[in-house]
Amino acid sequence: MHEAAYHELGLNSRFVFCRARVHSENLAMAIDGVRALGIRGVSVTMPHKIAVMDYLDELDIAAKSIGAVNTIVNENGKLKGYNTDFRGVVDPIREIIDVKDREVLILGAGGASRAAIYGLVSSGAKVSICNRSQDKAFELSEEFGVNLHFELKDIGKFSAIVNMTSVGMAPNTDSLITQEALNADQLVFDAVYNPLETKMLEYARSKGCSCISGIEMLVYQGLEQFRLYTGCESQPEIMRKAVLEVLG
Ligand code: ATR
Repeated sequence: MHEAAYHELGLNSRFVFCRARVHSENLAMAIDGVRALGIRGVSVTMPHKIAVMDYLDELDIAAKSIGAVNTIVNENGKLKGYNTDFRGVVDPIREIIDVKDREVLILGAGGASRAAIYGLVSSGAKVSICNRSQDKAFELSEEFGVNLHFELKDIGKFSAIVNMTSVGMAPNTDSLITQEALNADQLVFDAVYNPLETKMLEYARSKGCSCISGIEMLVYQGLEQFRLYTGCESQPEIMRKAVLEVLG
């Protein structure tokens, strides 16, 4: 999707996006390599998002609060870590509703949930979280000052329901939320993108809810990365098309 955006904006003579598999024991060397080679930016993914923070010169406020880095920008040898995952949650939601002062429920208490909580709290939403392991939900509620919610049958008061768990991912295509629990005034966001239409989104669509799929999270976090690497703006349509050509 980055390559597609470089081509669209005529940046492909300056930027190229390469993949590399890095084993944990080589992480420090890999980051030294970024400095030595003068690589402009890095997209960091599992399982290095937390460990990589130790090797950077600076962290932006979101990366610090979320406790993970998914993007590194090299400014003349100085490496700064960012987290754009929260933009992948709030930007597509913002296209549909303003979450300020609205009740939002986040399912899950892992790394993705931390990004969602940070983004939605920063956007002024009244956030509640619900997780299978209640001790983890409790810890997050204390850290971010958000509410706990326990009853998934009783979610009528929430303007948006955001699934940040892996539930619904193929091959176990379950849904944490039943069709009956949803109503047409709600927005349902599912971070899972395999399958593209999860059981939860299928239920939500059938009830007339607004729906956002995990593809949007991938695209919108990527748009922010693109801005950080290039200083230019791309469009969601360009990146979405490239992603769907592979996953669709
Ligand atoms: P990530 O960093 O991608 O968020 P993670 O840290 O492994 O991944 O978190 C996965 C989330 O999915 C957790 O909230 C997990 O709940 P637990 O904290 O109870 O483990 C949730 N999850 C995974 N499988 C689940 C299931 N079958 N039912 C309910 N929640 C589940």
